[in-house]
Amino acid sequence: MRAITIPESGGPEVLSWDEVPDPVPGEGEVLVEVVASAVNRADIVQRQGFYDPPPGASPYPGLECSGRIAEIGTGVSGWAVGDEVCALLSGGGYAEKVVVPAGQLLPVPKGVDLKHAAALPEVACTVWSNVFMIAHLRPGETLLVHGGSSGIGTMAIQLAKAVGAKVAVTAGTKEKLEHCARLGADILINYKEQDFVAELKAATDGAGADVILDNMGAKYLDRNVRALAVNGRLAIIGLQGGTKGELNIGALLGKRAAISATTLRARPLSEKTAIVAAVREHVWPLLEGGHIRPVVDREFPMSDAAAAHRVVEESGHVGKVLLVVE
Ligand SMILES: NC(=O)c1ccc[n+]([C@@H]2O[C@H](COP(=O)([O-])OP(=O)(O)OC[C@H]3O[C@@H](n4cnc5c(N)ncnc54)[C@H](OP(=O)(O)O)[C@@H]3O)[C@@H](O)[C@H]2O)c1
Repeated sequence: MRAITIPESGGPEVLSWDEVPDPVPGEGEVLVEVVASAVNRADIVQRQGFYDPPPGASPYPGLECSGRIAEIGTGVSGWAVGDEVCALLSGGGYAEKVVVPAGQLLPVPKGVDLKHAAALPEVACTVWSNVFMIAHLRPGETLLVHGGSSGIGTMAIQLAKAVGAKVAVTAGTKEKLEHCARLGADILINYKEQDFVAELKAATDGAGADVILDNMGAKYLDRNVRALAVNGRLAIIGLQGGTKGELNIGALLGKRAAISATTLRARPLSEKTAIVAAVREHVWPLLEGGHIRPVVDREFPMSDAAAAHRVVEESGHVGKVLLVVE
């Protein structure tokens, strides 16, 4: 098969579409013939040499895919050769074939195109596990999503609105904020021109956000704690603003607030299986009912993954950028 390999760390130009050995499904795994994958920010950091795949994962990038089951390993039930699926991966999605633990498979939701289903697993699992399973966002509460027009952000806005929450977003341009508003965002904050703490407080009668989904880490730590409401929950999933920050524990304590920080890729199979099952139970009906949808900006041939990486690195997209096997 062919796969995108990273012969050496560097810019998008290092990505190479090469002949590599076919993967073989083991116990509890299936082989998926890939139709599409999608770019995640983590793939860029992996390409740059700062995010090695976890032990046992494929060396090729790609944290999600859609396609058809081509082979079933021993001990797998409930799936058949030819089934159209999408999957959460620990790597290896930028390829013609990938091996997937059965617990990380999802059926393609009814009404969603097979290619577009590749845009769903990583964002649905990340948002559901952090905003709902860890931070327990409830109807009527306010969620602040940093980077509202990102792949993660576009899913977070839609899911939060679908359960009856109020949504505030930050983004870097007026156009991106308008996209967020079309997805349902109520409070729009341009992080380049406005102070998100002041804007959020003004829009919530001084209360702040019950839950914050944060992609920035250190750079926003102090401001995020100030933006939290009493009993607020800060869920950190990205470190785009650095890893080491100063935490005002007094402010956190005074608000009886909590901070969580997780990464999906390194979680054990049992936890990923539980998250995928929860996503199938709670998110898939919303997709099949037309309440939420995958947000796809554009697609590239998988062999030209470098072009797709350039778009995502320059933040030239809204939602997801797909890589399609030709
Ligand atoms: N922990 C996990 O398990 C997990 C899983 C998946 C993703 N993530 C993280 O989630 C984040 C989004 O991922 P993605 O793949 O959806 O990325 P993406 O589409 O590339 O989006 C990155 C976003 O960062 C925003 N941004 C940049 N500087 C900002 C600032 N100062 N304030 C607020 N937003 C800012 C960009 O906004 P503009 O374009 O408006 O500038 C853009 O929306 C990344 O940090 C990624 O690492 C974590």
